[in-house]
Amino acid sequence: MNYGPLLFLGILFTLAGSWFGLVLMPNRQLGDLQPHVNTNTAAIYPQPIPGEAAQGREVYRSLGCNYCHTQQVRPDGFGSDIQRGWGKRRSVARDYIYQKPVMLGSSRTGPDLTNIGERQPSYDWHFTHLYNPQTTSKGSIMPSYAYLFDVRKIGYGGASTNALKLSGDFSPGPGFEVVPKPEAVQLVEYLRSLKSSVELPEAPLPKAE
Ligand code: HEC
Repeated sequence: MNYGPLLFLGILFTLAGSWFGLVLMPNRQLGDLQPHVNTNTAAIYPQPIPGEAAQGREVYRSLGCNYCHTQQVRPDGFGSDIQRGWGKRRSVARDYIYQKPVMLGSSRTGPDLTNIGERQPSYDWHFTHLYNPQTTSKGSIMPSYAYLFDVRKIGYGGASTNALKLSGDFSPGPGFEVVPKPEAVQLVEYLRSLKSSVELPEAPLPKAE
C-alpha cells in the first residue's frame, strides 16, 4: 500500500497545528497589546522610558547584567518572588511591550530587578554599589564596575558635588575623588526607571490586609 498521501497529510497537520498553536494563537492574544489607561487617573502604563534611562538600557545590555539578573516576577504560588519583595505583583506580557529586546534573564545569581527603581531609588547607593558592590553588600559576588567611574585629583575648587562618598579601604586616597562617567549615570537612570507597581486588569495588586 502507498502510504505517501497519509504521510504527507500527517506532516501537514503536524506543522499546521504547531503554527496555529505556537504562532497564530499567541500572536492573536498578545500581538496587539496596548498600554493600559487608568480611567480614574488617566495614567498610562507602560510608557517608553525617556532619554538617559533608554541609553542606560543599552549599557545594561552591553555589560551583560542580565546574565545574573532577571526582570520577571513570578506569580504568587510559583515561587517566592513577591514575598522576597522583588515586585508587588507578577509580571505580565503588557509590562514588556516597549522593550526591544526584552531582557527577562534566565539565571538569578543576583536579585530580580523588575522593581529595583522603587526598592532602591537612591543614586548614591547605586553608584557606590556599581563602583564596588562590597561597599553596600559585603561578601557580594557581583563584579565591580569601577571602569564606569573616573578616579581623579581633586581640583582647586574642592571635591566635585557628584563625587562618591567612599570611606576606609574603598576611598581613592587623600586628594583624589571618584566620579561617575556618563555611562554610569545612564545605567543608574535605567535602574531607577524600573518600576512595576502599577496595577493592570490582568495583574491586580494584592489587596491591603
Ligand atoms: C556575576 C553575577 C552578577 C553580574 C554580572 C551583575 N550582578 Fe548585580 N548583583 C549580583 C549579586 C549576587 C547581587 C546581590 C548582592 C549585592 O547587592 O551586591 C547583585 C545585586 C545587584 C543590585 C541590588 C539589588 C537589590 O535588590 O538590592 C543591583 C541594582 C544590581 N546588582 C545591578 C547590576 C547591574 C546594573 C549589573 C551590570 C552592570 C549587574 N548587577 C551585574 C550579581 C551580579
